[in-house]
Amino acid sequence: MKTRFIVSGAKSACLMDAAHIIRSGGLVVFPTETVYGLGGDATNAESAKKIYAAKGRPSDNPLIIHIDRPESAEPYAVTNEYYYRLAEKFMPGPLTVILPRKDTIPKETAGGLDTVAVRCPSHPIAHAFIEACGVPVAAPSANLSGKPSPTNAADVLADMDGRVDMIIDGGDSEIGLESTIVKLDGDCGILLRPGAVTVDALRCVLREVKVDPAVTGSLPADAHPLSPGMKYRHYSPDTPLVLLDGNDSDVLEFMKKTSDDAILICFDDEAAVLAGHRIIPVGSREDLSEEAHRLFSALRMADRMGAKVIYGHLPKKNGIGLALYNRMIRAAAHTVRKV
Ligand code: TXA
Ligand code: MG
Repeated sequence: MKTRFIVSGAKSACLMDAAHIIRSGGLVVFPTETVYGLGGDATNAESAKKIYAAKGRPSDNPLIIHIDRPESAEPYAVTNEYYYRLAEKFMPGPLTVILPRKDTIPKETAGGLDTVAVRCPSHPIAHAFIEACGVPVAAPSANLSGKPSPTNAADVLADMDGRVDMIIDGGDSEIGLESTIVKLDGDCGILLRPGAVTVDALRCVLREVKVDPAVTGSLPADAHPLSPGMKYRHYSPDTPLVLLDGNDSDVLEFMKKTSDDAILICFDDEAAVLAGHRIIPVGSREDLSEEAHRLFSALRMADRMGAKVIYGHLPKKNGIGLALYNRMIRAAAHTVRKV
């Protein structure tokens, strides 16, 4: 298939073409504030099958449905008071809520589950595109299954050229990590995937938020986690990633002694000391949102640079650090080295 590539603003007429493709059962990659999404009509079982095929993704791993405003969930999911309380605070934005599914969403979209994941993105292009579609847009991250999610159009093109009808370039994704996923259970929630909406922020709305053990731990091969995606290898560069666990100065000492075979994902303030090494600085240790913004493109860049091993800091688990920890520990297949 020939992929049409467009650079769009939120008011561009091209978004009408993109919406037409979705309504005709085609696939469009679009930008969101978290990562790029690989979109199809969420109400069309055939579109869901095409998404799984384009990504090379197992069809038991459900898709998030993207809507233009919180109330647009009504025809597709059984909402409740706590969905709207979360929506009031965090939508549009990087939060996905799991609710009971209505039959308007085919089981193919939902990976066979009786629940559905609902998200209302804040990115202006995503909003205008979804609104123009007039149907919810099912969209996983627009990477080949197992690869880091794409956070810019070049990384999308590397994975999706020839596999989708259209790619909309909306620049760099602001957040850079996928949305927080919470499963609602009455006035409580279970965190299935950490993201920019932190556990503490969710606890301001919900009575209790439990963190699913799969968020930080590794799963046995026969596990059936609440979020099927947790059982698959994820976010992985082809080059092995090893996370260094120790205090800042010991990690830096270890990095200084590595050879040319290694690529070092480091903080900006370490770059000078590591001069002469092959480094990818990912921002300040005081503001981890910068590391979140750059992590996935850094992992892809490390692969392109070519090395035997990538070393990075083991993230701390507070605030957005929990989301970084969750992505990095899985990218590293839980390989942690004490230094
Ligand atoms: O930020 C995001 O959420 C991005 C952008 C494009 O919106 N999307 C995204 O989709 O990350 P995806 O498919 O790559 O990750 C969605 C995760 C998967 O791990 C899937 O298993 C889980 O959400 N999920 C989807 N529906 C679910 C459901 N009904 N119950 C539990 N987990 C669900
Ligand atoms: Mg994904």
